[in-house]
Amino acid sequence: MHDPAPLHVPPRRIGAWSLIIGAVAIVAVAFGYVGGWLAPHRLTPKKLVNQLQHDAGTFAGYRRNHAKGVCVVGHFDSSGQAQAYSVAEVFAPGQRTPVVGRFAIPGGNPYAPDSSVPIRSMALRFTLANGQQWRTGMNSMPVFPVATPQAFYAQLQAKQPDPVTGKPDPAKIAAFFAAHPETAAFRAWAKTAKPSASFATESYWGLNAFVFVDAAGQHHPVRWRMVPEASDVGSVANTPGGANYLAADLTERLAHGPQRWQLQVTLAKPGDPTNDATKTWPDDRRTIDAGTLVLERSAPQASGPCRDINYDPLVLPAGIEASDDPLLPARSAAYADSYLRRTSEEAHLPGTAAPKPETSR
Ligand code: HEM
Repeated sequence: MHDPAPLHVPPRRIGAWSLIIGAVAIVAVAFGYVGGWLAPHRLTPKKLVNQLQHDAGTFAGYRRNHAKGVCVVGHFDSSGQAQAYSVAEVFAPGQRTPVVGRFAIPGGNPYAPDSSVPIRSMALRFTLANGQQWRTGMNSMPVFPVATPQAFYAQLQAKQPDPVTGKPDPAKIAAFFAAHPETAAFRAWAKTAKPSASFATESYWGLNAFVFVDAAGQHHPVRWRMVPEASDVGSVANTPGGANYLAADLTERLAHGPQRWQLQVTLAKPGDPTNDATKTWPDDRRTIDAGTLVLERSAPQASGPCRDINYDPLVLPAGIEASDDPLLPARSAAYADSYLRRTSEEAHLPGTAAPKPETSR
């Protein structure tokens, strides 16, 4: 018997095969990196959302944070004052831009009583006439507790329910705060903060810095907030009762007329931190009144036009850009993960009404 003839592969074929194998290996490594398998300690969007779910429980079809909310619809009337700093069409003088928004309370439990947290949130999607969109999510507090996604994750871990008591362990929370002195400003605010009786009387802070870009291409770091026209005086529900008074108060106020907020944009001075949502900027920074948000009607979140909107803070029109704040890309990725979970579950929920046609992702 003779030896089989040696396999002759032409050198050009070997080159082609190495290229294919190399390309497959690169794709596999890239998948591994994105999926977090190559670095199990790396913080991924999935880990963040799993932890949110672990702390609050899993409620199919609902947002994994700010799960309890209500849709609102209205518009934004630009004052023209922000146009000198940003070419975004939403700031053109006299421009009216339609808005679909959502009020909510933080936490992953859609049945939590409104009095369970002192924070309320406002999320907005502006649909500009040129087809671009601006989405923003704001909270009713002037500073965020932490500056990085890693610290946010550590905070969620510290707050997870103890398997024995079913409640967060106060010692773990105290240890987290001790290890994170940057939470001091938030804790000082939280000490006196009370759950408000109305979404309509709150100020909502964007907290993260962004960058306005003007017609000459100049960059202006900014922060924004919505300041309400309504005050607590004469509130229909000064003393909150029941578990769901916020949506009821909103419906009642809107039945008497639109609710308004001024969009105040604060311009940074050189050296003001743009990558740290735990730090406020000094009070003397120039603040401009960019226009008026007018909210006209509300709708339940299960069937309303905000249901299938992901209020990703990195969906921005030309003229507004992200800053170097590390919370922004982490938020964007976590919201996408939460969005995919809740929308894929919606398809399996009995009797889920289709959202109104004006919705989009
Ligand atoms: C790393 C930090 C953060 C993480 C991981 C995170 C995570 C999340 C997630 C998973 C959702 C649900 C998204 C959805 O299903 O549509 C959410 C909602 C929300 N978050 Fe955050 N968040 C972070 C920081 C912030 C900050 C700094 C703000 C305030 C400026 C904020 C404001 C909001 C608001 C307003 C909503 C509700 C949006 C809506 O009504 O649909 N979050 N967050």
